[in-house]
Amino acid sequence: MAVEQAAADLMPKSDPFALFDHSEAHRAGVVTIKPKVLFMKIEAENAIPVPMKINVPSSGIGSVTLLEASALLSIVKLVRPRKIFEFGTFLGYSTALLVENSAEECTVYSLDLGDSHVSEKPLTAYADADLRSDGDINDEYLRDAQGALKPRYLTGLSDADKSRLTLLQQDSRQLDPAAHGLVGTVDLVFVDGGHDTETITIDTANARKMIGDSGVIIWHDYNSTIHGDVTSFVNDLATKESVIHIQHTMMAVLLVGDIGCDFLRIGVDAAGWEKV
Ligand SMILES: C[S@@+](CC[C@H](N)C(=O)[O-])C[C@H]1O[C@@H](n2cnc3c(N)ncnc32)[C@H](O)[C@@H]1O
Repeated sequence: MAVEQAAADLMPKSDPFALFDHSEAHRAGVVTIKPKVLFMKIEAENAIPVPMKINVPSSGIGSVTLLEASALLSIVKLVRPRKIFEFGTFLGYSTALLVENSAEECTVYSLDLGDSHVSEKPLTAYADADLRSDGDINDEYLRDAQGALKPRYLTGLSDADKSRLTLLQQDSRQLDPAAHGLVGTVDLVFVDGGHDTETITIDTANARKMIGDSGVIIWHDYNSTIHGDVTSFVNDLATKESVIHIQHTMMAVLLVGDIGCDFLRIGVDAAGWEKV
């Protein structure tokens, strides 16, 4: 029986009930959910279909995939954050998602190196094989590319959406959340900046300061084949806390406090979707 239970715990959760039950029974570890668990929660909360605003995915490396984008914006629509912080603007693909799928009273901060990072190396000097196999080279390319290509996905934002967005240009390792009035005021943090252990550790510590006792932290590049530091960091954290991995994505989610409890209950108290 214990072996069967252990096997069941490892199976991806397919509906909000299964995730809720698992969370009640486990205070630590990584639980995988199917992306449709998020979509079922959306359906449970909304009688009519929910539109999403999304750009055609970037053909280059570095931005979230289409499935990750739909999972990320589903979480935004479920959490209804009043303030969002993103580490890693890059071309602005995920930034645009966060702005265009959040409420008009939500403010969004996104941080990248911007003009503070200068490189003499042309992007064409990077070999495709290196970018896909070496995490350090991949990170170096992303830092250079954001400076050279700029956040082009933000050019299509409406004036109203632009007015809700603050772009910070600095090394995240030197970020002081208090200097921007962010301590305990942010409901959702997307951690997708530098992928080395030092940066992930500092960004996550700042993410925790920003959410305080309630909020959601989402890491990108969990289970990445090249950014192993992110996976190690999240797995280590999961020895003490419960982390949700969204199947077929590189997204790992930590739910904290009231916002986390409310999120887990969506679709459980009054299911609006049909169980199939
Ligand atoms: C994977 S990209 C972000 C992709 C973006 N979130 C998306 O999905 O469209 C990572 C970004 O983190 C930035 N980054 C890396 N190290 C950083 C640091 N120490 N401080 C600030 N930004 C950093 C890089 O410049 C790069 O633009």
